[in-house]
Amino acid sequence: MTTSPILQPVTIGDLHLKNRIVMAPLTRSRSSTAGVPPDFAADYYGQRASAGLIVSEATNISQQAVGYAYTPGIWSDEQIEAWKRIVSTVHANDGCIFLQLWHTGRISHPDLQPGGELPVSASAVKPEGTAFTMEGMKPHVTPRALETDEIPGIVDDYRRAAVNAKRAGFDGVEVHSANNYLLEQFVRDSTNKRTDRYGGSIENRLRFPLEVVRAVTEAWDGGSRVGIRLSPATTQPGETPLDSETHATFGAYVDALNEFGLLYIHTIEGVTQQTRDVPDGVDFLDLRRRFEGAYIGNNQNTLDLAEKELAEGRADLFSFGRPYLANPDLVGRLASGAPLAEAPKHYWYGGGATGYSDWPGMDGPVPVRR
Ligand SMILES: Cc1cc2nc3c(=O)[nH]c(=O)nc-3n(C[C@H](O)[C@H](O)[C@H](O)COP(=O)(O)O)c2cc1C
Repeated sequence: MTTSPILQPVTIGDLHLKNRIVMAPLTRSRSSTAGVPPDFAADYYGQRASAGLIVSEATNISQQAVGYAYTPGIWSDEQIEAWKRIVSTVHANDGCIFLQLWHTGRISHPDLQPGGELPVSASAVKPEGTAFTMEGMKPHVTPRALETDEIPGIVDDYRRAAVNAKRAGFDGVEVHSANNYLLEQFVRDSTNKRTDRYGGSIENRLRFPLEVVRAVTEAWDGGSRVGIRLSPATTQPGETPLDSETHATFGAYVDALNEFGLLYIHTIEGVTQQTRDVPDGVDFLDLRRRFEGAYIGNNQNTLDLAEKELAEGRADLFSFGRPYLANPDLVGRLASGAPLAEAPKHYWYGGGATGYSDWPGMDGPVPVRR
């Protein structure tokens, strides 16, 4: 058994965590067409409660936010009730869980939108690639640019979703401002061509994301249980080129976030899932130093890498995504050096309990208290 500092208890803000391991948000597309997570999702999350912190799969704040078939929401009472069962199972197993708040923006498709309307975005810039609809993969379409006077309504959707997460019993929320979804579509000048007060200068491009953060922190009585996910260097999904002034943009973003007393920033270092290489000019250590809260590092983490980064002061917590798919007892396996199982890709998105909540631990089924 290792005595790795990564696996020792740690306190960030007022949150006492069992270890520095975070289960990264993982979309699994197993919810109903009404965006209600299944009962067996409580087993799945409960089995993974040995993580210091679980960040839930990305969860739609509204019907308009939906961009992938069978993803969960947090706008209806039925969804909130389902999440309550999941959260209480995680708590019964001594775990801690935040809900990730999501609006996909242009990474959606009319098939998934209310009334079959166009997806919305900062500007009418079409993403590359395909959308995952109920009828399979379909090419993305050119989104509709939001009218200036529609933006407060979306901020309100975030506020309501944050309140609903509290009602469901979550320990906190994470604002999803990464991976080229709606908030990042406003942040980046490759996807934001607006000429109103939400486009143009860095300050203007950050306005909407910061309005969202303000609403969410107000809903949670401050930032102490609110985190945010950022991906300054990623080009996924949709192969969007980076911002023309990436580090200046994200440096200003982090500086502005300090006003809200957020618990953490959760940063994808490199291109999500693909590489930890960072483009010239993007400096994660600088972002970490500028931010006054905790820093969660992500992307291809291993225990060795996490130990090195902790020793060098580069991060406080370390999130693992793909390793959590097939290793519910990841913390135990890291502690003992046991080999990690790998989930075949066809289990990643869609389907039922198979390949989801039926992965055994290294010593057999992982028991879940209810
Ligand atoms: C199946 C799958 C689903 C994902 N879903 C989300 C998500 O809902 N929200 C999010 O911010 N990132 C999501 N990601 C990205 C992961 O959180 C993480 O950033 C990525 O997998 C890199 O970490 P890793 O190398 O430990 O897997 C997903 C990744 C995978 C493989």
